[in-house]
Amino acid sequence: MTDTMPGRAVGAESFRRALAVHASGVVVITAQNDGVPVGMTATSFSSVSLEPPLVSFYVDQSSATWPWLRTADHFAVNILSGDQADLAARFARKGIDRFAPPTRWRPGPLGAPLLQDVSAHLVCLPYETADVGDHVLVVGLVADVRTHGDDRPLLYHQGRFGQFHPQD
Ligand SMILES: Cc1cc2nc3c(=O)[nH]c(=O)nc-3n(C[C@H](O)[C@H](O)[C@H](O)COP(=O)(O)O)c2cc1C
Repeated sequence: MTDTMPGRAVGAESFRRALAVHASGVVVITAQNDGVPVGMTATSFSSVSLEPPLVSFYVDQSSATWPWLRTADHFAVNILSGDQADLAARFARKGIDRFAPPTRWRPGPLGAPLLQDVSAHLVCLPYETADVGDHVLVVGLVADVRTHGDDRPLLYHQGRFGQFHPQD
């Protein structure tokens, strides 16, 4: 059953409820702009293309981080591991210095901050952006990757963080 007529957009409540059922991995997008580190938590991360190697995420048009990300010459995708729920929450919180302790990070090969103890880092060059609804689609060309073991990933589902448990 839907609560809309065909051809009409679904209501915000139903939309949110349905999306909450979809489990996602969690990343923190980081960049530096004029020497200032910026970063935000995102679950909209996705792979896009193998050749060339492209990834994407969506950022809210109203994000205070976006103007800084938009003008950075590269950005990093930090793929969080299962025990990094606090880090994910910190990088979604407003009004704090997200890079202050207990956040542990170092500058990456091109300068964007790399968070410590994540499952993987992808360093990306801006490839394309597009306005889509109230978000901006950001596509990055992956210039460098560092994979750090096969830690279990951090997941987000029904508004909560959790861990992945393989069947075998
Ligand atoms: C689990 C989780 C996933 C999120 N995913 C996204 C996302 O994909 N895109 C986005 O724009 N914001 C996302 N957010 C919200 C941003 O992390 C947060 O609103 C933003 O960093 C607010 O700060 P800002 O206005 O300083 O950017 C997510 C938040 C959480 C907790």
